[in-house]
Amino acid sequence: MFGVALIGAGNVGRIRAGVIQASGHARVRIVADVDPAQAHNLASSISAEAITDWRTAIESDGIDLVVVSTPTKFHIKPTVFALQAGKHVLCEKPLARSVIEAVEGCETAERRHLILKTGFNYRYMAHVRKSKEFIDGGLLGPLYFLRCHYGHGGRPGYEKHWCTDQDLSGGGVLLEQGIHILDLVRYLLGEPTQVLAQSSRYFWDFPEVEDNCFLLLKTVEGMSAQIHVSWTQWTNIFSFEIFGRDGYLRLTGRDGHYGPQKLVWGKRKASHSRPEEQVFEFTPPEVSSPDDSWRREWEDFIHAVQTGGQPMSHARDSLQTLAVVEAAYQSSKQQKWVEVIDNFACTGNMLVNKL
Ligand SMILES: NC(=O)c1ccc[n+]([C@@H]2O[C@H](COP(=O)([O-])OP(=O)(O)OC[C@H]3O[C@@H](n4cnc5c(N)ncnc54)[C@H](O)[C@@H]3O)[C@@H](O)[C@H]2O)c1
Repeated sequence: MFGVALIGAGNVGRIRAGVIQASGHARVRIVADVDPAQAHNLASSISAEAITDWRTAIESDGIDLVVVSTPTKFHIKPTVFALQAGKHVLCEKPLARSVIEAVEGCETAERRHLILKTGFNYRYMAHVRKSKEFIDGGLLGPLYFLRCHYGHGGRPGYEKHWCTDQDLSGGGVLLEQGIHILDLVRYLLGEPTQVLAQSSRYFWDFPEVEDNCFLLLKTVEGMSAQIHVSWTQWTNIFSFEIFGRDGYLRLTGRDGHYGPQKLVWGKRKASHSRPEEQVFEFTPPEVSSPDDSWRREWEDFIHAVQTGGQPMSHARDSLQTLAVVEAAYQSSKQQKWVEVIDNFACTGNMLVNKL
């Protein structure tokens, strides 16, 4: 049974703790949060110890794995500290506020031969898994383009949430939510090599970060992606479409306020008449339960720990997603297409030197 130290007992920490306790192969032994009440509330509900200092939590006896679910500014220090102490780490997305901040985590994990996985749970959603199967099975033929609209309308007081504070989060809707979409673009369509972006702040009274971002991406194989992520989308939307020569996939919903997950597979007819559509509906989780992606993501992490393989969204992979986000911010600032740095081709200090 793996012993887990969980750092950050907020919304996501609570979801992770529930999944870990139900997994049968790991237990949260200690919960660390700078807010003692948060630490206590979660720890007491799962019979774990509560603490405010994450260093002590990581160094406690019986800890093999560390989960970091704090606001983004506080991801990298506990992550690197845990890796240096020989623990495998699952850290929420984004790995850090910028590529340069994330590099130390990536390099420490690689040097120490430890798993550092970033929490990109969307890859494990039922409609995404099915889409991946279809694409890899060649059912769409060669891919052409992808189109996504993703967002919500915030809530009263949203401007006080840490994720809208540049220092705590590193960015706005693009880094906080759009990063999931860019990760799915990489996963399902291919590596973006160039990006053109326009980020704007229309409604919310945030001092620095954007509440909308519009992006065009080109992949290495010449496919295109068109994305809009928004915090002024007054009703929640998750709409993600991929088109190829032989058909298309339309993914909608992601449970909760976004509606149940649904996948439509459209098959283009040689006659060019109306495509035949097949609909896949997925049973939503019970109200207030997390969708199954969190469990599947945890299983992937544990499998990597047990076998010494790499999970999806390992450190260097997630660094590349962060590199796409960074290129988008640069593009918005410079008002032109920007090349995405290929961090896979960089080792040691090469990446740092390129930045
Ligand atoms: N995968 C997803 O779908 C998803 C969804 C939401 C959030 N997230 C990510 O999860 C992380 C946490 O988000 P959240 O919504 O749970 O936030 P939250 O505000 O609900 O919880 C964060 C917790 O961290 C604690 N904290 C702050 N600084 C700390 C520190 N230095 N040490 C220990 N604890 C500290 C806070 O007191 C709070 O209890 C973020 O990185 C966010 O981007 C992922």
